[in-house]
Amino acid sequence: MQAALNSIRSRTSAAPHVGVVLGSGLGAFAEELADRVEIPYAEIPGWPPSTAVGHAGKLAIGKLDSIDVAVMAGRSHLYEGYSQAGVTFGVRVLHRMGVRSIVFTNAAGGINLAYSQGALVLISDHINLQGSNPLIGVNDDSFGPRFPDMTEAYSASYRAIAHEVARELGIELAEGVYAAVTGPSYETPAEIRYLRTIGADLVGMSTVPEVIVANHMGMRVLAISCVTNMAAGVLPQKIVHLEVLETGRRVQNTLMRFLMGVLPRL
Ligand code: HPA
Repeated sequence: MQAALNSIRSRTSAAPHVGVVLGSGLGAFAEELADRVEIPYAEIPGWPPSTAVGHAGKLAIGKLDSIDVAVMAGRSHLYEGYSQAGVTFGVRVLHRMGVRSIVFTNAAGGINLAYSQGALVLISDHINLQGSNPLIGVNDDSFGPRFPDMTEAYSASYRAIAHEVARELGIELAEGVYAAVTGPSYETPAEIRYLRTIGADLVGMSTVPEVIVANHMGMRVLAISCVTNMAAGVLPQKIVHLEVLETGRRVQNTLMRFLMGVLPRL
């Protein structure tokens, strides 16, 4: 961790308070930062390289308006074989850099029948079905408590800001509960009916470990899903990863406008 920090600090003296993690097919936002320094993950000691298609795999640090922002373009996933520590490494590094407000984006399957492909949905809460937790093991009390509260894992005040910005920009923004699974196989239609029954509106393979770690460290979290496809069995068609990426790219501009409106207000 210290080696990672040292290597980042040797390339930029910026001290961002705001961080962004970009999901599948949503990486273009990094290009919006002015005066940016881009560091491929492979050049940061200890950083797990992201292997998923559609993930750029670099840390970009630069300015949006007058604020310093750190953007992770691409993340690592449990399905790539990384541990819980691996998939949360980046968030821990961002915290050590001084990031206290963090925005996660991801691609997700739409379970809620009111959604459609391409919709943007604010995550209001999550259900962790990954069978594990990134805080298992000895607790580092300097980060946070052994049993961290998760009643407001997704900051209510940040969600209010997000809705306000979306309204101002004329962007439709729903809100829903995200169920995290490991993947990499997509769900079966029966699994989707089960997820709907237990209260999930969205399903995806990321974000939840990062959100748990961020909350543990006292960061405030905003998270937004792009419904890249309706979940298995909702429509009479199969789920194709390339389409997932394609939908992500299609809504990227809207997501970008949204992020540019939201970040300076966090
Ligand atoms: N299921 C799980 N993860 C996903 C999906 C899905 O349908 N779409 C994008 N990420």
